[in-house]
Amino acid sequence: MLDQAMNDSKTKQLDALLQNYLDLGAAMYGGEAVTQLEHALQCAHLSLAAGDAPPLVAACLLHDVGHLLSHQSPKSSDDPDDHHEQVAMIHLQNLFGPEVTQPILMHVNAKRYLCAVDEQYWSDLSQASKDSLEIQGGIYRPKQALEFMGLPFAKDAIKLRQYDDLAKVPQRVTPQLHEFRPMLEQLLLA
Ligand SMILES: [Fe+2]
Repeated sequence: MLDQAMNDSKTKQLDALLQNYLDLGAAMYGGEAVTQLEHALQCAHLSLAAGDAPPLVAACLLHDVGHLLSHQSPKSSDDPDDHHEQVAMIHLQNLFGPEVTQPILMHVNAKRYLCAVDEQYWSDLSQASKDSLEIQGGIYRPKQALEFMGLPFAKDAIKLRQYDDLAKVPQRVTPQLHEFRPMLEQLLLA
């Protein structure tokens, strides 16, 4: 009985989470030419097309939910970083396990890692992404890069980051948000 009530509550929270994308997802994605919702769908579609496991596809879909919801977090006026990966963690950790939430939490630092190990990666970043990199702490030093790769879920976070960088193509056709819902429901914590 109690288990059923908990499950119903999580399902409702999932619906509310997805509703945020419908209500707020028309906002543009930073300085890019796609909306937040288009960006999320493109990122998840790239992961799906690569044959990734459902938790990583889900992480790709939800990785920037913190951008949608960052106005709900305490933010000081002298800090230009919205810490959207931490905001996402606050909203998702009750619903999904670490295989979904950790790549999301680490996707900002994955960019700092990739810039440290691949100069071409840095030069290929959009100007908006280069600008946010500085706000997010800049390129990792070699020791930091090594430590990052030693963390659980680092490889998934890097994959997510690479899809993230590609998920900025105007008018690209993707699955719709509701098509991801059954997969997300399967991943809900008991
Ligand atoms: Fe993103």
